Amino acid sequence: MQDLSSTIEEIRGRLENSRMPVVLSGAGISAESGVPTFRGAGGLWKNMRAEDLATPEAFERDPVLVWEFYDYRRRVLAGVRPNPAHYALVRLAERFKDLTIITQNVDGLHSLAGSPKVLELHGNIWRTRCLGCGRVEENRDVPITIPPRCACGGMLRPDVVWFGEALPADVIEAAFEAADRTDFMFVVGTSGVVQPAASLAPRAKANGAYLVEINPDATPISTVMDVVVKEKAGEFLPRLVGI
Ligand code: APR
Repeated sequence: MQDLSSTIEEIRGRLENSRMPVVLSGAGISAESGVPTFRGAGGLWKNMRAEDLATPEAFERDPVLVWEFYDYRRRVLAGVRPNPAHYALVRLAERFKDLTIITQNVDGLHSLAGSPKVLELHGNIWRTRCLGCGRVEENRDVPITIPPRCACGGMLRPDVVWFGEALPADVIEAAFEAADRTDFMFVVGTSGVVQPAASLAPRAKANGAYLVEINPDATPISTVMDVVVKEKAGEFLPRLVGI
């Protein structure tokens, strides 16, 4: 097995020759900010799994319960800051102007850190969408009045993508395009089990991209990677980009 320094040299060599690197990120990149991952320890809320709360059916059945779950998550997120992994990617974007970050995270931490080009596949927890008039608005109330109402009287929902729902067409289209064009993809902190996000890595690979996974644990998509770095993102990425 290669030691970490030679792995870093190899990745840097590939990166230097890259025309358009892409990053696919998941909950693990925010873990070191203190945000619990979905499938890791601390991923349960009141003994319920995100998969059982983040669905249109759960919201229809009990919007108050689902909003309480989101209010809890918003309260957690209100107190967190981006971590060195987010900032390392900001630094990378200074070198690669076209660097696209495709994230499954709804926490907004990539943008808060200063990354200029972020595709939020699963929406953003700081926005609401009206089920009546469709209006999308930023809402940073913590706590939020439950259940929140739009000025038109309609019920508001979090502007995030729930299990079983389609991703915003323009965002997923842009993500597929980036995966098709890129020659280098970092896959950081995702368990690689939620589609279509997870398919972006094999898709990029099929188009000839060099793939680097950064995750302390192996995932179902580790097998398509060129390099698997079993390190924490907040420790490895700053070292890789030299900050
Ligand atoms: N650095 C890098 N990776 C980490 C770190 C860290 N410090 N800590 C944990 N991880 C890894 C875990 O090993 C795991 O593989 O991050 C991954 C987190 O996986 P999930 O909790 O499944 O999160 P994610 O892949 O983003 O989930 C996808 O599922 O619930 C839905 O919509 C939600 O966007 C989410 C989607």
